[in-house]
Amino acid sequence: MSLDAVLSRIDSDLPAAMDRLMELLRIPSISTDPAFADACDRAADWLVADLSSLGVKAEKRPTPGHPMVVGHLDGDGPHLLFYGHYDVQPVDPLDLWHRDPFDPQIEDTNKGQVIRGRGASDDKGQLMTFIEACRAWKAVHGSLPCKLTFFLEGEEESGSPSLVPFMKENADELRSDLALICDTGLFESKTPAIVTMLRGLLGEEITITGPDMDLHSGMYGGVAINPIRVLSRVIASLHDDAGRITIPGFYEGVPELSDELEAQWQGLAFDHATFLGDVGLSRPAGEQDRTPLEMIWSRPTCEVNGIWGGYTGDGFKTVLPAKAQAKISFRLVGDQDPLAIRENFRQLVRDMLPEDCEVSFAGHGASKASMTQTDAPSFDAARKALSDEWQVPAAYVGCGGSIPIAGFFQNILETTPMLVGFGKDDDAIHSPNEKYDVESFHKGIRSWARILAALT
Ligand code: BES
Ligand code: ZN
Repeated sequence: MSLDAVLSRIDSDLPAAMDRLMELLRIPSISTDPAFADACDRAADWLVADLSSLGVKAEKRPTPGHPMVVGHLDGDGPHLLFYGHYDVQPVDPLDLWHRDPFDPQIEDTNKGQVIRGRGASDDKGQLMTFIEACRAWKAVHGSLPCKLTFFLEGEEESGSPSLVPFMKENADELRSDLALICDTGLFESKTPAIVTMLRGLLGEEITITGPDMDLHSGMYGGVAINPIRVLSRVIASLHDDAGRITIPGFYEGVPELSDELEAQWQGLAFDHATFLGDVGLSRPAGEQDRTPLEMIWSRPTCEVNGIWGGYTGDGFKTVLPAKAQAKISFRLVGDQDPLAIRENFRQLVRDMLPEDCEVSFAGHGASKASMTQTDAPSFDAARKALSDEWQVPAAYVGCGGSIPIAGFFQNILETTPMLVGFGKDDDAIHSPNEKYDVESFHKGIRSWARILAALT
């Protein structure tokens, strides 16, 4: 079947494809905030309608949380599943946005045209690249060269609480020859990439309490224990001077980089000075005996994402606070066991707790790292298709972020995940003024058309 005709169709349909994406971006589907539950539902409805217009038998499927969208399209050839997520991150701090995050707009910038708005890159723009490729294929050839299942989630940004039960209950329906996931990025903005390693994620919220109430720090300061000081000491003890994490047993299951991966990554000649320079930094701050790429892709981390307590308003208040809190997350690699790490972390905190203090913990998700083997012929085929579109050899890369479903495809469905995406490092995902380059969107659609041709 002719690929050229599909690519031409994609080019001529680009303005209409952008209009469709803008419609989806106008729906504020923030999954973590219950105030936006209705919008999540509407985003799912929008996708069901859009997939139905392609002839996909699509349905909104309820879960205890936000609905899944599942669709099937019959066709000859291999059975491919496509996964993306329609939910987005909260928009705060809103005052740093230059426009309404849910009133998207095409903007001209010195690096080309961008689509600006929450979810433009993560993940609505990305998931629409695949749907648009299917639309063009169908328009040109009347049918697709494969059997397709669409699986679109609405809870990815809030830890996917309904995902595992849903996948287990619907395993037979979702199992396929290959799962395509579009939720990752290019390598250094011009090089297409297939992600072969994702880090896992463990979240812990910790609350340390001391006195029964906030106290006057003149009256009680010095004699009363201060929970913020206790929490600070705990946090300061989590890393040593060389950047290693001190939780007992933390590095169990962390593998050394294989010679093959080390060679692959050296070949990438990652420019860490630019990567850091773009965000106003200069010095890699992880484990001092590791390269910057290792720090991001193959080494585990422990980061404090938020810390609060006492008086943080304007002016000054001489308070000795009753409690102190922090959100701490761990990126995990290799075979690290999230639940063992959670237990060892909690024990470390309890062991450091002075008399009169108490601690409580709340867990937020616990997913293992995942890794994909690339020796199946489909990986070579996809890599060649990507290289043809971008005119540079596609790279096998790691990804510092976490997409827990990649591991679930392997473990629950025995389906290999293939992670291809077109985001750029400066897309500001999860941040104010998120954008997706029109180039990413356009070449992303073309890339999927080429991959579909190559896999079938
Ligand atoms: N699309 C991202 C994953 C990602 C991050 C890909 C960075 C490429 C670069 C995904 O939507 C995401 O943000 N995942 C969360 C995990 C989730 C469990 C909250 C993450 O990595 O923090
Ligand atoms: Zn995402």
